[in-house]
Amino acid sequence: MKRREFVSAALTGGALLLTGKRFAAQEAKLADARIDVLLDEPIGRIAPEIYGHFVEHLGGVVYDGVWVGENSKIPNTGGIRNAIVEAMKRIKASVIRWPGGCFADSYNWRDGVGPRKDRPRRPNFWIDAQEWPKGAPDGPWKYDTNHFGSDDFLRFCQLSGAQPYLAANLRSLTARDFYEWVDYCNSPAGATTLAEMRAAAGQREPWRVRYWGIGNESWGCGGNFTPEEYAMEFRRFAEWVPRYGLNLAFIGSGPNGGDLSWSRRFFGRLAEKGGFGRLWGWGLHHYSWNVTGGRTNNWFEGKGDAVKYPNDEWYELLSEADRMETLITDHWSVMGEFDRQRRVKLVVDEWGAWYKPGSEVHPTHLLGQQSTIRDAVLAGLTLDTFHRHADKVAMANIAQLVNCLQSLFLAHEDKFILTPTYHVFELYAAHQGAQSLRTNVSAPRISYTRNGKPATMRGLNGSASIRDRQVTLTVTNPDPNAARETEIAVRGATIKEISVTTLVANDIHAHNSFDNPRVIEPQASQAQTPRGGVLIHSFAPASVTQLQITLA
Ligand code: AHR
Repeated sequence: MKRREFVSAALTGGALLLTGKRFAAQEAKLADARIDVLLDEPIGRIAPEIYGHFVEHLGGVVYDGVWVGENSKIPNTGGIRNAIVEAMKRIKASVIRWPGGCFADSYNWRDGVGPRKDRPRRPNFWIDAQEWPKGAPDGPWKYDTNHFGSDDFLRFCQLSGAQPYLAANLRSLTARDFYEWVDYCNSPAGATTLAEMRAAAGQREPWRVRYWGIGNESWGCGGNFTPEEYAMEFRRFAEWVPRYGLNLAFIGSGPNGGDLSWSRRFFGRLAEKGGFGRLWGWGLHHYSWNVTGGRTNNWFEGKGDAVKYPNDEWYELLSEADRMETLITDHWSVMGEFDRQRRVKLVVDEWGAWYKPGSEVHPTHLLGQQSTIRDAVLAGLTLDTFHRHADKVAMANIAQLVNCLQSLFLAHEDKFILTPTYHVFELYAAHQGAQSLRTNVSAPRISYTRNGKPATMRGLNGSASIRDRQVTLTVTNPDPNAARETEIAVRGATIKEISVTTLVANDIHAHNSFDNPRVIEPQASQAQTPRGGVLIHSFAPASVTQLQITLA
């Protein structure tokens, strides 16, 4: 079967069986799954900031990724790669976090302002990382030239239509340095010496940065603090910063995955002083990687391959991603023990898949990796999870934007491609700012083998939102072996029209590359006519689907 015929079989509902690297067409199971969208059970507005991004000075993210330099032949605006800016506008990029990550706690913002030729060269935080691919030459990724600094990043946000989210250095700078960074970015035109310095760099008006992270991973690379020590530092940094008329939003460095004690002890310590002060958001980091198969849980060894994975690793990785649901509800419940009025929301400011080195497109791209259809399913199921908790999650930032971990783009010199993860952000953009609706998804669980033992995972995952009379329903089918025939109903309304767009591949390892950039792209697929208010749709194996449902 040719690829086009194969994909068309998948899209029209034929079930596909995984045979080694290839799928073969099979009969779909009859509707054994059901999705009910409950119009009268709104959860909350889906914050557009859930569709946030992350740019760190790490490997090829900034240099070779976002920043190509003003004198480059690669189309750019003031040194910023145009292709990324244009693609960011198409997905309505809402917010971008910078400059790290671990890098943030070794970064001095003063190094990156003023004339580029005068900026100092500094060793990058990641210089000694054991993951550097062999043959990575020296360059700005190891010795940062600081050619991309605050004004360059803020210009990138402005061009992309996104809000900036800056992470302060809590480990190696003082609170005063932080106040001065806020002054540089936000003080009124001409009001302070730093405002004049900003004007000299070409930006007279304040940048009006609202989101500020107070450190990063303060339990680890951000200072190795105890929660009590961090709570004290948080207060010192966040309490008395001038607002310059803005509603500043401070984000605390939250837990590593399921570390509930970090959340409990930090909130407990803040509560002792009578409240949460300037704490607007509580950061949560969760990466998904393969943990079984005799691997250690060390950064380098404890991971699977980005492209060459056996079936069990497919399931295991997606199950790890699906832990996001319990991480959100568990930390939310701990936060509620102290924050009874629910003033503080969750900010999942690092999430995504993390594989071992080897699939990066260039040796300078430390932690660079390919992104397959598996990553698209992971992105879809994670975003659906955020929507289902729209009342709790105020922002999320996939790690990272380009050339690093679960990227939306891969770029090297003049080569540039969109990954399957980008296409998920494109398909899901309609959810931004819409009202999330309770959506019951019921499907048989999928059985697989984890570490030699039987395990199961969700058969389908999804979420729905409404704006005017338009419902957006997004669904991932993580089963690489079978399409899932599903009855879909919108309780309390009649469906008038439906359109369906799907991201699907003919091989679970499929990905886009510089040579074949369009292997995985969204495709319009056939929607059946609803009968008796119920729509039957077959979700292709290993797919991400967006249904646009117009209500009568
Ligand atoms: O995203 C890569 C790194 O992962 C970040 O710098 C750090 O915050 C996390 O451990």
